[in-house]
Amino acid sequence: MASKSPTSHPLHSQPSSSVGLPLANRTSVGLISYNPFLTTEEGVDFDGSAAGQFDFENIEKVTKDLLHYMETCKYPFINDVNCYEKLQKIGQGTFGEVFKARCKKTGRLVALKKILMENEKEGFPITALREVKTLQQLKHPNITDLIEVCCTRSARNSSEKPTFYLVSAFCDHDLAGLVSNHRVKLSAVHVKTMMKHLLSGLDKLHRMKILHRDMKAANVLVSHEGVLKLADFGLARPFIVNSGPNPKQLYTNRVVTLWYRPPELLLGSRQYDTTIDVWGVGCIMAELFTRVPIMQGETEQRQLYLINQLCGSINPEVWPEVDKLPLYKNMASSMPPESKRILKEKLVLYVKDEYAMNLLEELLTLDPSKRPTADKAIYHTYFYKQPEPKDNISDLIRTIPNSLFEFTTGRGAHANRGRGQHHQRPQQGQRKPQNVPAGQFRDMIF
Ligand SMILES: Nc1ncnc2c1ncn2[C@@H]1O[C@H](COP(=O)(O)OP(=O)(O)OP(=O)(O)O)[C@@H](O)[C@H]1O
Ligand SMILES: [Mg+2]
Repeated sequence: MASKSPTSHPLHSQPSSSVGLPLANRTSVGLISYNPFLTTEEGVDFDGSAAGQFDFENIEKVTKDLLHYMETCKYPFINDVNCYEKLQKIGQGTFGEVFKARCKKTGRLVALKKILMENEKEGFPITALREVKTLQQLKHPNITDLIEVCCTRSARNSSEKPTFYLVSAFCDHDLAGLVSNHRVKLSAVHVKTMMKHLLSGLDKLHRMKILHRDMKAANVLVSHEGVLKLADFGLARPFIVNSGPNPKQLYTNRVVTLWYRPPELLLGSRQYDTTIDVWGVGCIMAELFTRVPIMQGETEQRQLYLINQLCGSINPEVWPEVDKLPLYKNMASSMPPESKRILKEKLVLYVKDEYAMNLLEELLTLDPSKRPTADKAIYHTYFYKQPEPKDNISDLIRTIPNSLFEFTTGRGAHANRGRGQHHQRPQQGQRKPQNVPAGQFRDMIF
């Protein structure tokens, strides 16, 4: 019988190059290095029969045995999704459905995010693998907790392709649902506490050298205890801090849901950094006050136009070298030449606290190099002035009746708000972007 200790398993140190293996092997190896069962309270349904024949101590000498083990093992570290009882569908993301479920053994509530495999010729989707690997590294109170990865039973007993699920702790709400529900009364303390949680989660991410690349209210969950959790790492990726003469790393600019997308991405920048996520935090902060997404463009051109309208004209005077960005000239017609920055005037009715307004102005700075880092923003005076932020917003969550949980949790329409064209995920042949519901959130500043 194989040991359950994480260090004694020979495959724990397997590199992620397992992506090149056939599906069964790849999945086993890729996920065995992540052994979630050893870290959870769920208990283990561990089938060690195949592993039992394997000599773990002499891994160097038994490559053939190792290969045989990998080919015959039935995902020994991957639980069966039947351990969970599906309760209801709570979300429809770009990549698949999300279900609320209950662990049959412990009664714990979880969210099961199905990984769409239908169009995968290459095996386990790299984006899902990235999401798992990212979440493995990120243990933080303000980042969603990946409990484990599980799969359908059929895959254990047949050659049929398995369906995989990411299992995370269930959260009662996502922020998009919460803020759009006007029966939920948000006080200045609630907003401040939420902002602190959000920035703390993002700071952890950035310290781990990871970009989120899809900051939006629907990707921020709120637990039953009133703690915010940054979620949905499907577009996240590690970044390299450029220094010296090395050529700068290029990333795709086809990321971030349109309404939360910063101007540098709309202008084609491919050398962005953590400040793209900071712009998203600015949009979310404004939304906490206004209760609707503040810039709701239908196309990239319109989104850029709305940014110019609210934050002032984008030009080399306010943003040196912006004219060198790839799409600056092409997008010139989408940028009104002499727009005054009216962010403050527009928001003053909603944001009464001058320090909050000041932070918002900083987060939504056009020139990315002038935006604060998440770390710096946490130390903004706003968080040190009365009323001070609390540990959580459980007092608010307790006031929301059960019936509203269904209203606010995982609303598909919310999850896809602002999901514009040229977002990277739909282009991987997985799912067409859903349209913004008719008559809602069209081409407008809140
Ligand atoms: N742990 C959870 N608890 C409660 N709800 C959740 C949980 N995880 C996801 N959801 C709900 O499901 C929705 C979709 O999940 P997620 O964002 O992870 O999937 P996605 O396919 O990447 O979505 P999208 O592409 O629309 O951003 C979330 O917006 C949220 O409402
Ligand atoms: Mg999402």
